[in-house]
Amino acid sequence: MAKKKRDKNRVLIFDTTARDGKQSPGCNFGPDDTIRLAHQLARMKVDVMEAGFPVSSDDDFEAVRRVAHEVPGITCAALARANKDDIDCVMKAFGDAIKRSRIHIFIATSDVHMEKKLNKSPDEVIRMAVEAIKYAQACGIDNIEFSPEDASRTGFSFLAKIVAAAAWAGARTINIPDTVGYAVGTEYPNMILRLMHEVSIIERNDIVLSLHCHNDCGLATANTLAGLAAGARQAHCTINGIGERAGNTHLAEVVMALKTRRDYYKLDTGINTKEIGPTARLVSSIIGKPIHDTLPIVGANVHAHSAGIHQDGVLKERATYEIMSPEDTGWQEESLPLSSQSGRHGFKQRLAYIGYEVNAKTFGVVYAKFKELAAMKPLVHNTDLHMLMQETEAEQHAEEEGWIRLLNVDYHKLDGTRRVFVGLTANDNTFEASGTGNGPFDATWSAVRSALTRQKFWPGEIKLESFDVSKGQGGIESVGIARVKISLGDYAAFGRGSDTDIVVACTKAHIAALNNLINAPILRERIS
Ligand code: KIV
Ligand code: ZN
Repeated sequence: MAKKKRDKNRVLIFDTTARDGKQSPGCNFGPDDTIRLAHQLARMKVDVMEAGFPVSSDDDFEAVRRVAHEVPGITCAALARANKDDIDCVMKAFGDAIKRSRIHIFIATSDVHMEKKLNKSPDEVIRMAVEAIKYAQACGIDNIEFSPEDASRTGFSFLAKIVAAAAWAGARTINIPDTVGYAVGTEYPNMILRLMHEVSIIERNDIVLSLHCHNDCGLATANTLAGLAAGARQAHCTINGIGERAGNTHLAEVVMALKTRRDYYKLDTGINTKEIGPTARLVSSIIGKPIHDTLPIVGANVHAHSAGIHQDGVLKERATYEIMSPEDTGWQEESLPLSSQSGRHGFKQRLAYIGYEVNAKTFGVVYAKFKELAAMKPLVHNTDLHMLMQETEAEQHAEEEGWIRLLNVDYHKLDGTRRVFVGLTANDNTFEASGTGNGPFDATWSAVRSALTRQKFWPGEIKLESFDVSKGQGGIESVGIARVKISLGDYAAFGRGSDTDIVVACTKAHIAALNNLINAPILRERIS
């Protein structure tokens, strides 16, 4: 059968939130969240989703396996180094879903990486890349993407040589990573242009050149757009720009720049831009980090006008100070917030709409929590529902596994000191204690610690490393979201809790962090 011709103006969007994005400290999430994200990305019509790096953890393996098998409408990609073990692991995760999946093989090509990290000569690196690509093909996959890691610090002639070798070996997409956000000015687009002109197999085999930018100098989106203008036709991006260090290219910026300035770029993506806002809010609730008010496209301030002259202009004609409409990006909540008047049916439908299929038991628990919340705040937003669901799932898991759970929390303040009383349970034991402190974080931490220490449930020198609090979606009635980072020896873990009462939110965050640190190795991070 003749191969379908590629539309030369169509840009493929490759989302790596669940792989590179997840590498951002404190942004780790598990397979259930990856599946939820995958469904939302499919709804937004992302072309490829990198669901994980299977050999790196059981969690990533499971996430890739499930996305490849359970989520229609999106190509599932998985990362592998250029060696057989990594490739075998990806193949195992893809299983019989191999035909709709893509393997993304990478090896570092800059001198500093080859010498110091890999301890390999350039010839060995080319050989490893070619062998890996051929091995993947022999395993039965033909959708192969290859990345020469740190391409922007790789000498051009070597870069061209390995790109050509990878294409001859069978890679159909070649990704050119600016791994450390190093490229400035015209360097990155020039690299793309030169590859297209000097590596003839790119045109002959209709290879898609792809872009992968990091934001160390704040240039990830600018470089990605320049690379697309130069002829690349795939962009690696993440939701809200999360990723290693300063993050990756923010998907919404690229998509909306292309759409808003189609007159300039003359390029299209397949993205349903109305799903940009809901996707940003979903990722924010999965990682427990608020969307920054000024984050382009999705931040709370991007359609707010405060200067008098601007307000006057916008009231007369929106286009005076706005280049895109909030409706186009799903900037506002896409459906009406729920309230205490909302019934079980509407509530269940909304849960399904935002990605949760719940059984009767979970529905009963989460509906009761919703009613409690709706009694405290007039409007319950989708982000609140994400938090309720995540909390309910975490509690149910803790109950099944005998992990720590919160039973009750109470407090009073005397002479400026806050005393917090907590009741906890784990493994059928009940612990009660109180603790004091000046603020909600230290008072609740001291109460939780003394409750667990009394029963010898405190595992050692745990340190409260950092904490912060932010508000959920909505106005003055929003829930407070508390986040903490704790550490024990070489490991750290994050925890999050939300509630209309900040003391309760802090207590929940400590418990979540303790469970992640003590009981869930996949959610800990090595810190030394
Ligand atoms: O930044 C990078 O180079 C990467 C590669 C694995 C593509 O993330
Ligand atoms: Zn990267």
